[in-house]
Amino acid sequence: RGKRAFIAGIADDNGYGWAIAKSLAAAGAEILVGTWVPALNIFESSLRRGKFDKSRVLPDGSLMEISKVYPLDAVYDSPEDVPEDVKANKRYAGSSNWTVKEAAECVKQDFGTIDILVHSLANGPEVSKPLLETSRKGYLAAVSASSYSFVSLLKHFIPIMNPGGATVSLTYIASERIIPGYGGGMSSAKAALESDTKVLAFEAGRKHKVRVNTISAGPLGSRAAKAIGFIDMMIDYSLENAPLQKELTAEEVGNAAAFLASPLASAITGAVLYVDNGLNAMGVSV
Ligand code: NAI
Repeated sequence: RGKRAFIAGIADDNGYGWAIAKSLAAAGAEILVGTWVPALNIFESSLRRGKFDKSRVLPDGSLMEISKVYPLDAVYDSPEDVPEDVKANKRYAGSSNWTVKEAAECVKQDFGTIDILVHSLANGPEVSKPLLETSRKGYLAAVSASSYSFVSLLKHFIPIMNPGGATVSLTYIASERIIPGYGGGMSSAKAALESDTKVLAFEAGRKHKVRVNTISAGPLGSRAAKAIGFIDMMIDYSLENAPLQKELTAEEVGNAAAFLASPLASAITGAVLYVDNGLNAMGVSV
C-alpha cells in the first residue's frame, strides 16, 4: 500500500508545503492538505480552475492529485478555544471542523489513518518588529501559530498515524544565529520548534514508533517570506556567501522532506537537517 500524507500549510503553489506535497506525490504518496481557513476559498477555486496545473506536473508527466483539502486553523485546538469574533467572521463561518482536533477527526473518518504528517506553517503578526519592540501578545501569537501548532498537530494526529510513520516541520536558522529582521518572536518560535523536535521525537518514538524531524531551510520567496520584507536580501546573501552558489529551489526542500519521511531515513529522528546550500556552515561571509 502507498503512504498517505497530511500536509498542513499549503495555500498556493509557491511555498515549501506545495513542493513537499509534490515530492511525496512523486514518490507515490496520497496527498491530503490542510489549508488556513482564510485562504481556503481562493486556494480551492484556483485548484479547480486549473491555475496550478502547470505546477502540478510530476516528473513522470502526470498531475499531482490532492485527495482532499481540509480547512485548518492551527492556533485553535478544539471548538471551545475559538473566540466569538472569529466564529462570527465570514471567512470562518463559511467552513466547519477546522480546529486541529476536528481536522484530525475528519481525516480519520474519511481515510482512517495516515503515515506522514508535515507541518509547513508559521505566523508572527509582529515579525517585522525587532524582538525588543515586540509585544507579549505578538510574541505569544508567533509561538502559538508557529511552534505549539506542531505540538497540537502531532498530539491530535498521532492516534491515527501508522507505526513507522514520520513527521517533518520547517524551521529557520534564526533560531540559533542572529538574523536581524526575523523579529516578532519568530526566532524564539523556531528555537522552540527545534527543541520540541527532540522531545517529541522521544515521546512519539517510544509511544508510537513515529519519527519527528525538522528541516532548517534556506530562504525562499514564498508568500509568508515576502510578508517579512527582507527575503530578496536573504536570497542574495545566500547566493553570495553559501558554499553552493546557486538558487535554492523549493523542490530541493521537498525532496529532503520526502527522504526524511521515507524508509531511507528510518533511523533518523530528532534531527535538524539543513537544506540551505550549506550556508549554515559558514563562519564569516567571504
Ligand atoms: P507559505 O506562505 O507557503 O506557507 C505558510 C503557510 O502557513 C500559509 O499557507 C499560511 O496560510 C499558513 N498558515 C499561517 N497561519 C496558519 C494557521 N494559524 N493555521 C494554519 N495554517 C496557517 O510560506 P513558506 O515560507 O513556504 O512557509 C512554510 C514553512 O517554511 C514555515 O514554517 C516557514 O517558517 C518555513 N521556512 C520558510 C523559509 C523561507 O525563506 N520561505 C525559510 C525557512 C523556513
